[in-house]
Amino acid sequence: MKILVTGGAGYIGSHTAVELLDSGHEIVVVDNYINSSPKVLDRVRELTGKDFESFECDIRDKKKLTEIFQKTKPDAVIHFAGLKSVGESVMKPLEYYDNNIYGTVVLLEVMRACGVKKIVFSSSATVYGGGNVPPLREDMPVGGTTNPYGTTKLHIEKILSDLYVADNLFSIVILRYFNPIGAHDSGRIGEAPNGLPNNLMPYITQVACGKLECLRVFGDDYPTPDGTCIRDYIHVVDLAKGHLAALNGCADKPGVHIFNLGTGVGYSVFDVINAFEKANGLKINYVVTGRRDGDLPVCYADATKANEVLGWRAERGIENMCLTSWNWQSKNPNGYDD
Ligand code: NAD
Ligand code: UFG
Repeated sequence: MKILVTGGAGYIGSHTAVELLDSGHEIVVVDNYINSSPKVLDRVRELTGKDFESFECDIRDKKKLTEIFQKTKPDAVIHFAGLKSVGESVMKPLEYYDNNIYGTVVLLEVMRACGVKKIVFSSSATVYGGGNVPPLREDMPVGGTTNPYGTTKLHIEKILSDLYVADNLFSIVILRYFNPIGAHDSGRIGEAPNGLPNNLMPYITQVACGKLECLRVFGDDYPTPDGTCIRDYIHVVDLAKGHLAALNGCADKPGVHIFNLGTGVGYSVFDVINAFEKANGLKINYVVTGRRDGDLPVCYADATKANEVLGWRAERGIENMCLTSWNWQSKNPNGYDD
């Protein structure tokens, strides 16, 4: 298949691009590089030994996006493009609604006009809000998001479902990611946050390499065994493979197909610090501070649906997630600027 990948230069998009190319698909990348660099795509070419077309384009630019679709004639779209910082979204709600929701509407309009009716969308466990008891299943109620970023994911899921009602030739796959960490085994691609990292693993790796002094653990008074929050960390390569499984399993089945992509196993913040120290023989300097607003105590997936329907399951454990995160960070202390 020929797959147009929006946001293909980003963290998850680049790992998925490698898996798609390695399994014989053709890809076309569309990215405006607002949170990435075209250098990432050269590394994807280097890793796979395969070339592909890439376009610097904002998905909100309907004219340019239409020209790209007409020129490249994709069979399907994997839609990663979006802004993803929870904290930033609280300060810049309009930018998030414009980029994520309006951007997706434009993409869907172009797809419809060009007769492309297969899409895989990057959603998030955040759509479950705080009202369900984990493990979280796809049939549990969604809603109650606590920040504009999460609300964009919720609205886009609804827009996709409404689109299917209006045109039931669409095959729509909604993938709800849990907490992706880790990097490609080569250490050539990985997560390269701009400025201060928001997420746990990039913060840990930047403390490990001396770029940051000390990790702040946001609260140790949660109702969990060690008092820190529990999350379902999933290796980004497993996550990338989940997209292939979704395409193979659902691309030819009209409908709205929703899957959690997680491991089904929860680790606390202290578990992750300990696993990182053990896997890499390093010490992480940390201090416990107050809670971060909006953090749920416990969030992990019931991952059985993806296994039963798609035959996919996460294969890598926390040790490999820690090893590959550090391999990437230590080889690229300044991300793609090295
Ligand atoms: P990322 O920021 O590394 O990648 C997103 C890419 O989209 C970037 O390359 C960025 O330049 C591009 N982009 C953003 N807006 C664009 C626009 N208007 N037009 C064209 N390109 C645009 O993020 P990621 O971690 O790879 O996440 C990919 C997707 O998965 C996002 O939609 C994100 O919300 C979702 N997601 C991520 C996580 C996570 O923890 N990383 C968890 C759940 C869901
Ligand atoms: N944490 C720290 N210190 C840090 C960063 C994080 O203690 O410096 C803790 C958090 O409090 C939380 C855990 O580490 O308990 C994980 O935090 P992350 O920021 O790495 O991940 P979140 O679970 O908060 O958020 C992630 C994605 C969001 C997505 C959400 C739900 O970043 O995009 O999962 O899917 F919305």
